[in-house]
Amino acid sequence: AKEIIMLGNFTYCNPTRLYFGKDALDGLNKELPKFGKNVLFVYGGGSIKKNGIYDKVLEICVKIGKNVFEDAGVMPNPTTDKLHEGIERARACKADFILAVGGGSVCDYAKALSASVHLDDDPWEKYYVRSEAPNCEIVPVGCVLTMVGTGSEMNGGAVITNTAQKLKIGHVFSDEVFPKFSVLNPEFTITVPKYQMVAGIFDIMSHIFEQYFSGTDDCSNDYIMEGMLRSLIHSANIAVENPKDYEARSNIMWLATWALNTFVEKGKTTDWEVHMLGQAVGAHTDATHGMTLSAVSLPYYRYILPYGAERFARHAVNVWGVNPKGKSTEEIGEEGLSVMEKWMKKIGLVTSISELGVTEEDIDAVADSTLVMKGGYKVLTKDNIKAILRASL
Ligand code: NZQ
Ligand code: ZN
Repeated sequence: AKEIIMLGNFTYCNPTRLYFGKDALDGLNKELPKFGKNVLFVYGGGSIKKNGIYDKVLEICVKIGKNVFEDAGVMPNPTTDKLHEGIERARACKADFILAVGGGSVCDYAKALSASVHLDDDPWEKYYVRSEAPNCEIVPVGCVLTMVGTGSEMNGGAVITNTAQKLKIGHVFSDEVFPKFSVLNPEFTITVPKYQMVAGIFDIMSHIFEQYFSGTDDCSNDYIMEGMLRSLIHSANIAVENPKDYEARSNIMWLATWALNTFVEKGKTTDWEVHMLGQAVGAHTDATHGMTLSAVSLPYYRYILPYGAERFARHAVNVWGVNPKGKSTEEIGEEGLSVMEKWMKKIGLVTSISELGVTEEDIDAVADSTLVMKGGYKVLTKDNIKAILRASL
């Protein structure tokens, strides 16, 4: 008999307060006074200096009377080396608060840092290898988001790359490390290059898929995710034609947050194997996160389709509008994936790992860096992983 799972047992609380819209930055005036004087202003490679966000944030901090210290140069796919540099800076300035201004990399880095400043252990070993929870004081974090996709603005995720070990691993911290607040102004994302925008759009899609393609029970979150996917496809089409379309960009921003803020995962086993494959590709190439996901998704989903055919057919019909009449469940599922493939190519997504620099000779090493997840429709063997990576070349 089919196991009745319904939504299971859980507790739900998301502690991050959001400030959304064109005036969202005003939120800093409400939030920053709640925290100590020494603010560590964390940002990336300088895009915020070009588009003026840096000046706006600094002005508010100074007006409130904060002592502002900087930790710049957080790279896309932040590394353990950078994390150690940040720990030194945060200790030296006795940071009371970490203000992250940037994309997922800056937000992730700020969270990893927040749980490492007062840690006596090595953060890579503790959080990423042993996957332990913090047992030290956490420095509170706030985010001003400038690039959309990861959902890092309202979750506990912090993905760090160990370049020496060629491993890219995410630690999901609990509530205490979630940003205390996040500022979401869609206008701040308008200067994001098209390649990054499209990668972010696919990152959102992939986050939804990772949760949607799991389980066979009747879960209200699956219906919500189908609606989110339809809205995402609709707004993505508009944003790709006209990146300055505020309505489309704001819808995409809102979807990104809700795709990965622990809401839709409730009641789901969740898969995350696409992210494990993508992160392994990322560890070997330093490629843009969303593009590593788009490059492996179709071969992966085609590989597991026979094990989750019902859900793939439902996805094809409810998300991509495939007409199911006269077709087998698997045929409907495959038709959904081929409609999706055409759309992915149309909006400019990378659909092969060779484009990201992976060659046949790298396959074994990339497979070695790929973690195996258990919540999807098929638990992969190392040989399955190699076959999927070869099909992604
Ligand atoms: O460094 P700067 O100069 O700011 O430039 C960045 C960077 O080069 C640029 N950018 C950001 N905002 C901009 C802008 N350029 C112009 N105008 C703006 N307004 O965009 C580039 C990419 O930024 P990045 O932060 O790396 O992108 P993203 O937001 O995609 O973050 C990727 C990282 O997040 C992790 C990924 O693995 C990767 O390390 N993830 C975090 C997750 C989480 N916290 O839950 C989940 C995700 O699955 C993901 O793994
Ligand atoms: Zn992602």
